[in-house]
Amino acid sequence: MSAIESLDGLDIHWQSSEDMDVIETESVQSVVTSPPYWNLKDYGHEDQIGTADESYEHYHDRMQAVWEECYDILRDDGTMWIVVDTVMEQGDLQLLPYHIAQRAEEAGFVLQDMVTWYKPTAIAGMTDRNVVNKKEYVVYLSKNRDHDFYEENANNGAEDPAISDDYRLGNLWRFPVKRGTAGQNVLHKAPYPQALTDRIVKLSTQPEDTVLDPFLGSGTTALSALEHDRQCIGFELNREFKDAISERLDSIQQKSLSEF
Ligand SMILES: C[S@@+](CC[C@H](N)C(=O)[O-])C[C@H]1O[C@@H](n2cnc3c(N)ncnc32)[C@H](O)[C@@H]1O
Repeated sequence: MSAIESLDGLDIHWQSSEDMDVIETESVQSVVTSPPYWNLKDYGHEDQIGTADESYEHYHDRMQAVWEECYDILRDDGTMWIVVDTVMEQGDLQLLPYHIAQRAEEAGFVLQDMVTWYKPTAIAGMTDRNVVNKKEYVVYLSKNRDHDFYEENANNGAEDPAISDDYRLGNLWRFPVKRGTAGQNVLHKAPYPQALTDRIVKLSTQPEDTVLDPFLGSGTTALSALEHDRQCIGFELNREFKDAISERLDSIQQKSLSEF
């Protein structure tokens, strides 16, 4: 049995998140994810959302199906955090995060904010942008208006622009990305930084709560959840990520075995 199958608190489904009926309704406290950015990357699976020949509208239709599933699975005071960015299409900027926010609202969610994730170490990528893109967005939504923040002041240093004078969390978050990963094999491509998912997990859940990632990839959300004593449910089409996830979660398994 591999590390992931034997790890307490982790439940991975190797299937499309367009159908998450196997998960109990209202059982998840927070959805933390980064979806395919429309047709930006080929993840090598025929059923993936966001292929080279998929229209922008069809992509959003399929994504909305996922947001509807997330809505049903979330508890009434649950939240959803979608890390995503704008993409260039033939020299024209597509406002992907805004359209994702709109479709999530159509699925029933309340839009709370578009947090800006500032990436100071980002360098010019292989796109036709005229400026170096140093940010992404975190679309922050809630199932209902009422919900709590738990560790509101979880910060990443004294210079964190997210922390304002009165110690309330702001909507500009600074998390550097590792350099030199552009163009490498997609399975080893840098996912979002764990510091970012750590913040969201601590902010939006308490120990023992369940976090869902409908696009698990290499498992950064799972790492944050398990390291902070939360449960994690993940959906991912691509079984090729299994070894990468296993490797990343190995340290947690070693820790739990030594505690046992
Ligand atoms: C941006 S990546 C996620 C990266 C992830 N946050 C990480 O830490 O590595 C998007 C993922 O969605 C997966 N995916 C695409 N369509 C899917 C679908 N219909 N259901 C589940 N996963 C899907 C892709 O295989 C890819 O791993």
